[in-house]
Amino acid sequence: MTIRLGDVVPDFEAETTEGPIKFHEWLGDSWGVLFSHPRNFTPVCTTELGQVARLKPEFDRRNVKVIGLSVDPLAAHDVWAADIAETQGYAPNFPLIADPDRKVADLYDMIHPNASDTMTVRSVFVVGPDKKLKLSLTYPASAGRNFDEILRVIDSLQLTATYGVATPANWKDGDDVIITPAVSDEAAKEKFPQGWKTLKPYLRIVAQPGK
Ligand code: BEZ
Repeated sequence: MTIRLGDVVPDFEAETTEGPIKFHEWLGDSWGVLFSHPRNFTPVCTTELGQVARLKPEFDRRNVKVIGLSVDPLAAHDVWAADIAETQGYAPNFPLIADPDRKVADLYDMIHPNASDTMTVRSVFVVGPDKKLKLSLTYPASAGRNFDEILRVIDSLQLTATYGVATPANWKDGDDVIITPAVSDEAAKEKFPQGWKTLKPYLRIVAQPGK
């Protein structure tokens, strides 16, 4: 199933390392990150799960619940967790979905047969508190993801959801932002009384609101 930006993401029930969940109920009012990793006991995946565990306080700070998935069974997740702790210095501190029958992987189109018909690709789905898809990424098995980038884009998503601004290339929290073309100069005077810089009529730069 193709899930597009703005769609309500599919709900599902699954076994996880922290007990059975119903996805939407588990998300509650939080933001969510659902990510797949191709297979347990593989090198790149081991580093990725260690990084997510290291960054868990950063996800918490942003009110984001993180959940991983692979098509391995639950018992394998528990054994692998010890390897992740030993080699990465961080044990998984977030739930991992066991999806051996690929129910969730198929629902979220995480298996791309021309890449592999037995493993998932590295998918990331960022879900808002309204359960709608805000961002998705697909990486191949050979490239580990940069989870700092996922935090960075969540900062952008949360900021733009609150203030109706947009963020420029390579933006990071604290940098100036863009007044969207949908906001007239008149309306911008109300929203940004401290003023802004007009580089072009369509390119107006303002200090990050709320800072
Ligand atoms: C890895 O995580 O290292 C990996 C997983 C599947 C295929 C290739 C690499």
